[in-house]
Amino acid sequence: MQKNDIIRVQVTDLSHDGLGVVRHEGKVFFVDNALPNEEIDMRILKLAKNISYGKVERWISQSPYRQEDVALAYLRTGIADLGHLAYDQQLLFKAEQVRKSLSKIAGLKESLVLDTLGMEQPLAYRNKAQVPVRRVNGQLETGFFRKQSHDLIPLSDYYIQHPEIDQLINTTRDLLRRLDLKPYDEEAHTGLIRHILVRRGHYSGQLMLVLVTTRPKIFRIEQLIEHLTKSFPNLVSIIQNINDQKTNVILGKAFRTLYGSPTISDQLLGNHYEISAQSFYQVNTPMAEKLYQTAIEFADLTPSDVVIDAYSGIGTIGLSFAKHVKAVYGVEVVKQAVEDAKANAKRNGISNAHYQIGPAEKVMSQWLKDGLVADVIIVDPPRKGLTESFIETSSQMGAKKIVYISCNPATMARDIKYYHQLGYQLIKSQPVDLFPQTHHVECVALLVKV
Ligand code: SAH
Ligand code: NI
Repeated sequence: MQKNDIIRVQVTDLSHDGLGVVRHEGKVFFVDNALPNEEIDMRILKLAKNISYGKVERWISQSPYRQEDVALAYLRTGIADLGHLAYDQQLLFKAEQVRKSLSKIAGLKESLVLDTLGMEQPLAYRNKAQVPVRRVNGQLETGFFRKQSHDLIPLSDYYIQHPEIDQLINTTRDLLRRLDLKPYDEEAHTGLIRHILVRRGHYSGQLMLVLVTTRPKIFRIEQLIEHLTKSFPNLVSIIQNINDQKTNVILGKAFRTLYGSPTISDQLLGNHYEISAQSFYQVNTPMAEKLYQTAIEFADLTPSDVVIDAYSGIGTIGLSFAKHVKAVYGVEVVKQAVEDAKANAKRNGISNAHYQIGPAEKVMSQWLKDGLVADVIIVDPPRKGLTESFIETSSQMGAKKIVYISCNPATMARDIKYYHQLGYQLIKSQPVDLFPQTHHVECVALLVKV
């Protein structure tokens, strides 16, 4: 077996990020655009000790679960890495990811993983888009970067974004061309427009446009604003973000409101929120509501409960149930988010939610020292999960229930294993599909003190 050999193999599995898995003569190959149970002629691209890569030369047999819509399936190469798999199979795949993690990492042989809650229409769901702006064949284009590259693939229909977001991107692209504004050139570090971001309120329909530029000055910006606001009456906010760094990070530090308001407003489970360009806000509003509802159901709250909302962002989880409990304590590391959470509490007439800025592990141990007793702790950490000290402190607080919201089953399973050692038992977990057509798995787990 060597590089460039073509071998006939069977695809047995799908990796966590949606690549076909082939096992052959002791090696494990990852193969793009290959689905389980397909027989393929595979060209060996890279042969290594741990992980090898192959490419489909031709299919001998194809999976019945291939996505029929070829344009959607093609987005596999960029913004939708499971776009080539039928949706009901995506849902099974996601529950299986959670099951596997709990068994392999947490050592739970029997764990109750419920069927993934999916969308009826798993398209056009994103309330936010960020698209690169580059020159392709002499013309300014918007689209997506091909996976693991910075090659821009031009696109007009993004499938998974709300169609009005696509329209605003395409109209902005056409105007940038007409006004002869220069796209960013990464290699030369020249040009003006790097990225276009759009947010849209799911219930309000309000639109925000963010232009990420290398320099403060945008020629003919008045014309751009006039055209856009005329074509999009719901466009209530146009923001400029300046990023002059040679970096993959999309946003720079400086924001400037060019038109209208610095925020858009929207609703979530009946509460009203203001969302700014840089706020963390779940990109799929109806499924975020299902996720939070599931967490609230798992918590089974009573009016006398004191609840900690750790990694609280702009407060969306805790504020959803604050009126039905005694008190909510939120902790969050980003200053702007904490200020937003406080303002959001006020805006919705909630006076029993308190927010503390700082790293969750530190604030938790301070709360413990101060004698705070929590009945329920809800955590919603970033991909890297919790720290051991957070887990220890939360168990010392005597919480009867931990509700763990996770976007990474592997770190969630690791943390559940530790909670187990400290006397908590996993009761059930519920995957919720916030990111149809992609490999991303979101899930809620309920742990109860035994
Ligand atoms: N619960 C919110 C936000 C979840 S995203 C929602 O559903 O919208 C995770 C949040 O954790 C982000 O807001 C991030 O800023 C915050 N965060 C990351 N590391 C943290 C830490 N060490 N301590 C506290 N918050 C942290
Ligand atoms: Ni991943």
